[in-house]
This record gives sequence, structure tokens and C-alpha cells, in this order.
Amino acid sequence: MTYEEALRAARGNMGKCHACPVCNGLACKNTIPGPGAKGTGTVAARNYDAWQNIYLNMDTIAPNLGVDTAFELFGERFDLPVFTAPIGAVTNHYGSKYDEYTYDALIACGAREAGIAAFTGDGLNEMFFEAGCTAMEKAGFAVPTVKPWHRDLVFKKIDYAKSKGAKWIAMDIDASGLPFLKSMTPPSGPKTVEELREFADYAGMPFILKGIMTPAGAEKAIAAGASAIVVSNHGGRVLDHTPATARVLRAIAETVDGRIPIFVDGGIRTGYDVFKALALGADAVLIGRPFVCAVYGGGAEGVRAYADKLRSELRDAMEMTGCATLADITYDRICHE
Ligand SMILES: Cc1cc2nc3c(=O)[nH]c(=O)nc-3n(C[C@H](O)[C@H](O)[C@H](O)COP(=O)(O)O)c2cc1C
Repeated sequence: MTYEEALRAARGNMGKCHACPVCNGLACKNTIPGPGAKGTGTVAARNYDAWQNIYLNMDTIAPNLGVDTAFELFGERFDLPVFTAPIGAVTNHYGSKYDEYTYDALIACGAREAGIAAFTGDGLNEMFFEAGCTAMEKAGFAVPTVKPWHRDLVFKKIDYAKSKGAKWIAMDIDASGLPFLKSMTPPSGPKTVEELREFADYAGMPFILKGIMTPAGAEKAIAAGASAIVVSNHGGRVLDHTPATARVLRAIAETVDGRIPIFVDGGIRTGYDVFKALALGADAVLIGRPFVCAVYGGGAEGVRAYADKLRSELRDAMEMTGCATLADITYDRICHE
């Protein structure tokens, strides 16, 4: 199966998602529930567009060493610097083809079979987080992503993830912008550096903060003891009028200056975009919506098909720019319009 075949099979089975040939945020715009973005619904499209304005500097006068796309982090090894982004509450957003447990198992196992790994999601229904952790247990590795609930609930969810064998844990700190989180009692949402440090210490494993969009936010994440950050605006779902992640990535990477690894997501669709993200200073990327289409159209095989497409595109980009390893993908390998 190819990714295009998975997309065709997914079409018509995904609620408000049209499984478009190019997942650029236009057809779904502001559909929430659904796969879209908040308010004007333009941020997802902005994320996508920003990668289109970055180009690769071709240079084939280089040693013919072949390319190695392997990525290592916190003692784990992956074939590609690519992870599936956490997607929670799939039945609410994509219709009833899969329940949460089935969806999470397909994406987490498919990702492992493809040599990559999944981040899994969370939501109001406790079952959403549990489904991700159950899939992690089945797949052998995944990264449960807990929302910034009130303190006791975060501790409870960290305990649950540990009981299922989590090796890394993430928190989408930007989920503060989701309406259901705003209205909770006791209050959920923004956390101080001290509160986050308590979570990081309690987790006792790599703790990744997702939803960082400024150099100042990155500094606070480091002060809070985050082991890594994800530069992300949640695909435009938490705050309208945010800049594209590709636009803020380099400034954040310069501030972080190698102290902790950086992931980025938002509109990354091809292996060429992965290359651009690494050139701007990311260590690895997360990809969300296209992997959902891959699962809806092809199950675990769809995930493998999309990962294979990303792999061959990334290899092509590396070969044609003279990059033998991921470390060779530096800022001088790209140019802007
Ligand atoms: C339907 C849907 C559900 C999501 N659920 C979560 C979630 O539970 N936790 C989280 O951290 N991010 C969640 N996200 C955000 C994604 O992880 C990711 O940051 C975003 O989709 C940007 O990547 P993309 O443009 O490749 O989709 C969700 C996104 C979508 C579209």
C-alpha cells in the first residue's frame, strides 16, 4: 500500500476531514470538533505555507557516503527523526470508524513497525489517556502526552503512565487554550515554572513540554526541568493568530543552543519539510493529521506507508544536499524566498 492509496481509502470515512491529497488546513479550516483550527481557522494553513517558502540548497559535490537517517534520543534509537503527534478523542474529531483503543493501538504499533514512535493524546474522558497508555504497552514504546490538569490529576495520570511502562512522558502545556480545560474545577490550564518542575521531578523520566512558541517560553521550560520541548501551536487549535512554527523555530533553537533537544510540529508533510525543520534547528519532528488519514485508510500498514514516503523524501533531500547524517543538516543547507 502507498500513502496515496491509504488516503483514497480514508476518504468519506473521516467525518469532517476530507483526507485531502495535500493536508494544508484549507478544506477543514475551522472545524472543531473536527481536524481544523480555532477561530478564523487560518493557523493550520499558515503552518503548512511556511514550510513551502523554504528551499533546499542542492550540492552534490561531496563524498559519496550514502545517507543515514537514524536518530537517537534518551537511549532510544529510531530509523527517522519523525514521531506521530498526539491526537486525542478521535471519535469526536473523525467520526466513529475507530474507538480510541483501536486507533491508538494501530498508530502506536504501526509506528514501531516503521522504525519510529507515537506520541499519544489525552482528553476530558479518562479513557483517552488510558487508551494511549494501553497502546504504548502493546507497542513497547510510545510517549503519553498528559494535559495540564490540576495537580492531583496530573500526578494520577503520571502514575498510570508509569504503571503501563512509560519511558518518556510529555505535557501539552498549550492545551490551556482548549475550551473544556478552561472551565474545569479545580482549575486546569497554565502552570508556573515551579509547578512544572514538580511534575518533571515526579515523572522521573524524560519530561517533554509541548506547545512552546517563544524563546522566553523555551527558557522557562528549561528552568522547569523539561528534558526537551516541542515547538508547536497545537496545529492552530488553541490560539488563533499565532505565527507559523517554522517562523519561530530558529530563534528558539538559537536561545536553547543545544541545552535540550527540540521537536517541532505544524504543517510538516514531507521528508523535505523534515529536512527544513532540522536545518532550522530542530532535532526531530512530530506529524499529526496526515498520520490520522494513514490509519483511517490503511491501519498500521498505512502508517508504515506514510513513514516510508517520509523516509525516501528525507533520503533524497540529504543525498542531493551532501548530508550523510542528520548532524550534517545545518542552516546553510536551506534558503528562504
Ligand atoms: C483532532 C486533533 C486532536 C489533537 N489532540 C491532541 C492531544 O490530545 N494532545 C496534544 O498534545 N496535541 C493534540 N493535537 C495537536 C497535534 O498533536 C499537533 O500538535 C498538531 O496537529 C500539529 O501538527 P499537524 O499540523 O502535523 O497536524 C491534536 C490535533 C488534532 C488535529
